[in-house]
Amino acid sequence: MSTEPTVITVGEGTGAGGQELGYSVVVGEGLLAQLPGLVGPQAERVLVIHPRALRATGDVVREDLEKAGYQAVTAEIPDAEEGKHIQVAAFCWQVLGQNDLTRSDAIVSVGGGAVTDVAGFVAATWLRGIRIVHMPTTLLGMVDAAVGGKTGINTAEGKNLVGSFHQPAGVLADLETLATLPRNELVAGLAEVVKCGFIADEEILRTVERSPEEVQRWDSAELRDLIERSIRVKAGVVGRDVRESGVRESLNYGHTLGHAIELAERYQWRHGAAISVGMVFAAELARSLGRLSDVEADRHREILTSLGLPTTYRDDRWNQLLEGIRRDKKNRGETLRFVLLNSIGSPATVEIPDPSILFATYQEIAEPASSTTISL
Ligand SMILES: NC(=O)c1ccc[n+]([C@@H]2O[C@H](COP(=O)([O-])OP(=O)(O)OC[C@H]3O[C@@H](n4cnc5c(N)ncnc54)[C@H](O)[C@@H]3O)[C@@H](O)[C@H]2O)c1
Repeated sequence: MSTEPTVITVGEGTGAGGQELGYSVVVGEGLLAQLPGLVGPQAERVLVIHPRALRATGDVVREDLEKAGYQAVTAEIPDAEEGKHIQVAAFCWQVLGQNDLTRSDAIVSVGGGAVTDVAGFVAATWLRGIRIVHMPTTLLGMVDAAVGGKTGINTAEGKNLVGSFHQPAGVLADLETLATLPRNELVAGLAEVVKCGFIADEEILRTVERSPEEVQRWDSAELRDLIERSIRVKAGVVGRDVRESGVRESLNYGHTLGHAIELAERYQWRHGAAISVGMVFAAELARSLGRLSDVEADRHREILTSLGLPTTYRDDRWNQLLEGIRRDKKNRGETLRFVLLNSIGSPATVEIPDPSILFATYQEIAEPASSTTISL
């Protein structure tokens, strides 16, 4: 495997105030030495935000920043969704205040998508916005959450309801951090990778088809290739649609039913497992609307199954799922909207005026509730 880091640029040009709009996502191994370059010479103090599970990594990052001449402190936050809470953000603001971080200082996030989201939100709001560098440590964080500038926290009413757009100064995706990632987290991240394949890069699908085992190994050349390709897909889309007004919707492929399943499962399913079922549903819908061929629709099921991702859902939850689908943010009034493929690599947002076709499609992915296995 190449040991040279790969640099992918997201966005480009300069803003009205002359500031650089683009940033780099660096993919490779042993990338810590590149962190000071992204934090920049203007910063004196740096806050490293990491989850409990990554205390050792957070400490290494802090020590490295200190060696580079920064005053660095850490803020340890709860793992996973527990971290995306207003009280966690308030704790981080408190640490920032107590350590006198100014507008020229910086935050570094070390962790999965949950940390990226809350740390990004803290960076967006502290002194109306300070610099942040993301160091994603999950596959999902690398290919999705750390790229694109969406930040957010949860409220009692739902996930990601509060947040802002705040682009990072750079992203370091160090593949070595994936060595400790539990297998189910890696596989869940692969669902987003496969999504990128379906909406924009068929070579991703071919690689998974050729090497379903290798792509699940953190140190394989195949996984690195998939990560780089997926980041390029996301970079290409968000670079054209920074505030999610149009083409960015294609990234929601599989997410309409996927979000409804997550809701129905009270977030006990991994996001990747839910969108895996959601992509098969979208493929079946496209098949019945005459948009996708049988071969292309079947390919969804085959690829996702080869990775151990679920492709069916219990048959006794349709009304609940439809309720979740109706809440989807893509909808306009009463009309339901889905991202569907016209062919591999060609997504479009399609209006579904009659929900009865959705129920018919659901029969294609439904299995008796009694035989449903717990996912991932
Ligand atoms: N902002 C965006 O554009 C965007 C996009 C996709 C997802 N998200 C958000 O990302 C979150 C999900 O992210 P995720 O799937 O990375 O999960 P996560 O951040 O919840 O991490 C999963 C678990 O793995 C642990 N972990 C992280 N890295 C590890 C490592 N290297 N070794 C061992 N354990 C490790 C974490 O502490 C956590 O317990 C959701 O909150 C979702 O809303 C945001």
